[in-house]
Amino acid sequence: MKTFVPGPTYEEMLYPEKLPDVVRGKAAAARADEFDPANLFNISWRDPDQRIRHVLLPKELTGVEANLLVLVGRFFPSGSHKVGPAYATLMEGELAGEIEPGASTMIGPSTGNFGIGVAYVSRLKGYPAIVIMPEQMSAERYERIRHYGGQLDLTPGSESDVILVLERTREYRKDQRNKVLAQFELLPNYRFHRYVTGRSALEAAQQHGNGRVAAFVAAPGSAGTLAAGDEIKSRFPDCTVCALEPRECSTLFNHGRGTHRIEGIGDKMVTLIHNVLTTDYVALIHDEDCLIGLELLECRQALVERLVHLPEGSLECFRDLFGVSSLCNILGAIRMARFLGLGAQDNVMTIATDGFDRYPSVLADLEARRGPFAEQELADSFEDIFRGGDAADLLDVRSQKEKARLFGYKEEVWAGFGYSRAYLESMKSQAFWDREYNKIRGIDAALVRGRRF
Ligand SMILES: Cc1ncc(COP(=O)(O)O)c(C=O)c1O
Repeated sequence: MKTFVPGPTYEEMLYPEKLPDVVRGKAAAARADEFDPANLFNISWRDPDQRIRHVLLPKELTGVEANLLVLVGRFFPSGSHKVGPAYATLMEGELAGEIEPGASTMIGPSTGNFGIGVAYVSRLKGYPAIVIMPEQMSAERYERIRHYGGQLDLTPGSESDVILVLERTREYRKDQRNKVLAQFELLPNYRFHRYVTGRSALEAAQQHGNGRVAAFVAAPGSAGTLAAGDEIKSRFPDCTVCALEPRECSTLFNHGRGTHRIEGIGDKMVTLIHNVLTTDYVALIHDEDCLIGLELLECRQALVERLVHLPEGSLECFRDLFGVSSLCNILGAIRMARFLGLGAQDNVMTIATDGFDRYPSVLADLEARRGPFAEQELADSFEDIFRGGDAADLLDVRSQKEKARLFGYKEEVWAGFGYSRAYLESMKSQAFWDREYNKIRGIDAALVRGRRF
């Protein structure tokens, strides 16, 4: 039997306390050295005290009655929760006998964070990695990938040119040694987020308001994160799941296909692993609002505190926790709470995929483009961004007609990449997604059987 660098089961990513004591000890010590492979056992939403990492935003900031909860992804090894799907996809490939140390090269089609995760996990598990991504993403992303020893293959354009990444990926598939960790297509991404993220979100919500989740809001890139909504809905069927898109690239909303500046989301397609059955609404957020929103929360905290009458220093605890797509998610969550008329006991859950460390260059570009911000201009922007929102930017996609439209988009993209009509058709039933989800027990058991510490 082949031996692999060991890593956690899905169950252990959700409950790291179930790891054998000796492994937990190694994982704790590994936090001091990010290249220590025992860090694979730190892939979890929990902090060392086993609490789910999340924050409750002040109501003075959000301007809504509901509790706005944000799961914080930046403390995952490599700096974003995208390392979870990268690990899960590689781990399942090893179990299936498709990936072997010494024989396989990992290919990571990405817009950055997944690629960083692929480079990182590959390094810990002893595989070479090539990350295919657009050439106009933040400089910090490329630096991280190189830091982890990943090789870069850049395609033209930016976030909304991911189709070019997928097309380049096709070239790599011709060589048997290349194994594509295909986040947009493969179901470990769905399994990780439905089980690990979904249950972590449910546990975090228990500490707030009525303990339920009234709405789950997330901007899809691969749409992996949105799978958490499936788990939340299976517990609270009334929960409203809302997918956010850049207004500049409103693909789910109305087949829009523009360029935008919210890195990680808005990839001009319905991804294969997006279970559109459980998406209730699509909402549009202006990309510039997310950039200026980040500038406000990260660099102008004193101004925001004055504007919303919070004591000085109240926002300090949020420093470094959010990136541009986090602002998109937060603004979407605020607008959804307002639209649904949620009250003080209701919880709205959303996600901060990565933190500010990936965006200083992006805010520097913003300033270079617009010139230095005047204080009054920023104050006016705060009002528009955090209190604004247009009803026309929200679309109800619960009807059969809307589902058929979204399935149509999905088929358009994925039949072109060789998926059969029968497979695509099977995805139109919730049973498909539940079957995929229920594979977790068997995968975990197989991993434990073959694992040597
Ligand atoms: C910064 C950022 N936000 C959001 C997302 C979207 O997450 P998902 O791919 O799970 O839909 C990504 C994905 O790469 C990302 O990098």
